[in-house]
Amino acid sequence: MTLRVFATIVCAGFLAGSAAMAAEPSVERGDYIVNSIGACGSCHTPFGPNGPDMSKALGGRVVEDSEAFTAIAPNITPGGEIAGWSDEELGRAIREGVRPDGSIIGPPMPFEVYHGISDTDLASIVMYLRSIPAVENDPGKSEYRIPLPPAWGPPVTSVADVPAGVTVEYGAYLAGPLGHCTVCHTPFGPNGAPQFETLLGAGGNEFHGPWGTSVSANITPTELAQFSDAEVETMIRKGMRPGDVAMFPPMSYPHYDRMSADDMAALILYLRSLEPKPFQ
Ligand code: HEC
Ligand code: HEC
Repeated sequence: MTLRVFATIVCAGFLAGSAAMAAEPSVERGDYIVNSIGACGSCHTPFGPNGPDMSKALGGRVVEDSEAFTAIAPNITPGGEIAGWSDEELGRAIREGVRPDGSIIGPPMPFEVYHGISDTDLASIVMYLRSIPAVENDPGKSEYRIPLPPAWGPPVTSVADVPAGVTVEYGAYLAGPLGHCTVCHTPFGPNGAPQFETLLGAGGNEFHGPWGTSVSANITPTELAQFSDAEVETMIRKGMRPGDVAMFPPMSYPHYDRMSADDMAALILYLRSLEPKPFQ
């Protein structure tokens, strides 16, 4: 009898503890998302002569200058405009692409997937952005010479957490809402949106920069079946193909190298589970 009561109490305590952990936003979790799988700095951190200028981390830069637009990722430290926004307004800007004045935030920030960021993770990202030092940097304002969509989707009220673990489901959450791997790696259709329903992971998008032109790879088993998990991991973390062949930008290898072993395992499990798609 005594033993049984003891066991029940321990068990209830454990469950309450783990449920609280899963639901509590934190600066640490926000730091992890922004600086590893989320790779926000791949667009929002300015470049110096030797790559990203970490003394101005998240201080903003020109991301893309093409016929369609000059996209400038703003300063998202407390030194930028967001300092005047409430936590709720900042969260809405990140998850729905709408500023407090109601205007739409333009591409290439991957709002196609950010509407799936969970409430807890969004709160963690906001907490982290509030906690970092203010960077004095004004990268300027974007100019869009194409019409922007009226909205990136219906308003988002609440998104539940996806339980963390080495599962296909959590891998899908990492590759989509948190990491936007799927946006770069799915061909854009005539409507200007990634064709998730028909060509998820098929690759074929072109990226232009000082490196010339790179093309996002097919990340379904059509391409990845030839590689071991360790080889796929080295490509994602280090940007190196088997035989020490360096890969091209703009995939942000240094950010992904900070991912935990479990998250990497979940991500690769998910890639292996994708329906094979033809090369584009
Ligand atoms: C692929 C590039 C890219 C990535 C990745 C990206 N952003 Fe952005 N972000 C932009 C661009 C470009 C804009 C500005 C678009 C405009 O001017 O309409 C922007 C705008 C914003 C804004 C609005 C700020 C303001 O002052 O108007 C916030 C907040 C923001 N991003 C946060 C984030 C966070 C947090 C992440 C990571 C979870 C992230 N971004 C990832 C490119 C990116
Ligand atoms: C900003 C766009 C972008 C993002 C975000 C991105 N990738 Fe990539 N990825 C690329 C490009 C471009 C290449 C091809 C590089 C080359 O040709 O050297 C590539 C190559 C790869 C490859 C090599 C496949 C092969 O056999 O050649 C893998 C695996 C991969 N990406 C997985 C991922 C995963 C997983 C994520 C998310 C954690 C991700 N990518 C995010 C653009 C991106």
